[in-house]
Amino acid sequence: MIENVTFHDHKPQALSLYDAVVAGLSKSDKSIPPKFFYDQRGSELFDRICEQPEYYLPTVERRMLSSLAEEIANLTGTGRVLIEPGAGNAAKVRLLLDALRPSAFVPMDISFDYLKSSARALAVEYPWLPIHAACVDFTHSLPIPREVPNGPRLLFFPGSSLGNFSPSEAGGFLRLVHDTVGSGGMMLIGVDTKKSERVLNAAYNDAAGLTADFNLNLLQRMQQELDTDIDPEVFEHLAFYNDEEGCIEMHLVSTEEQTLRLNGHRFEFKKGETLHTENSYKYSQTEFINLVTENGFNEVRHWVDDDGLFAVYLVAVA
Ligand code: AVJ
Repeated sequence: MIENVTFHDHKPQALSLYDAVVAGLSKSDKSIPPKFFYDQRGSELFDRICEQPEYYLPTVERRMLSSLAEEIANLTGTGRVLIEPGAGNAAKVRLLLDALRPSAFVPMDISFDYLKSSARALAVEYPWLPIHAACVDFTHSLPIPREVPNGPRLLFFPGSSLGNFSPSEAGGFLRLVHDTVGSGGMMLIGVDTKKSERVLNAAYNDAAGLTADFNLNLLQRMQQELDTDIDPEVFEHLAFYNDEEGCIEMHLVSTEEQTLRLNGHRFEFKKGETLHTENSYKYSQTEFINLVTENGFNEVRHWVDDDGLFAVYLVAVA
């Protein structure tokens, strides 16, 4: 029995995979939201993507966070309630915990089994830290468990996760963060920068093929969890930078004309038609500072690594 961890199930699957697939495949531009990538296998594949040399984001961000931890703690102070939506394996927060000395940590994730095992491991490593792990879909809400202590809050949102939202959805999420941390609240957020297309395209087309497996895992999930005749073999991974939109787009391309049956529904795919699975927006510093300023925050400080690959921003509720 580990004493310093509690679990809260906010049942995030209100919109189930089934509902999302039916809604997403009924549209003329077929799409499924990226949160459905993260079942147990998808979460594990994502962790392996983070070890690929082409996917520079986590490596650069980790290096920045470990060297900045003390400076960040000087700006935030210690003893805050630390909240991390989409915490996954909670690898990055470990770089900050000794410096930030939070009064409690609230990791949130959509995959409850994955969250439980990572929160337990963290609780053993940091016996002084009360952990309140919550299974939530952060794209809808950020419910804070009731036993979380009072006191100033800091929301940690690393990994350029904000990039999955369109800029207008990102505004909505930032207002939700604003209301969740409240007055005196702060947010520490890692954001991928705009850079050469070659570097961006390589990051989402790693040579080991893990991003492709991660994308295709969505179809395997459908095959396993839904009553459908889908064949993951007749789809291919596609990822490219859309310069006009400023985002990486990921798709699953149907390599043949096919009909997908699901519980009485029939979805037709033409040869070459795609199922859009993810957008990953990249922000210049001006774009990002404008975005947070329009949504109730002031910039406290920001840092960019020497190669301009990644940015970390500390912002405070205005
Ligand atoms: C977790 C959303 C930040 O967009 O870079 C990685 C997910 N997709 N490779 C990203 C992802 C393909 C990642 N985020």
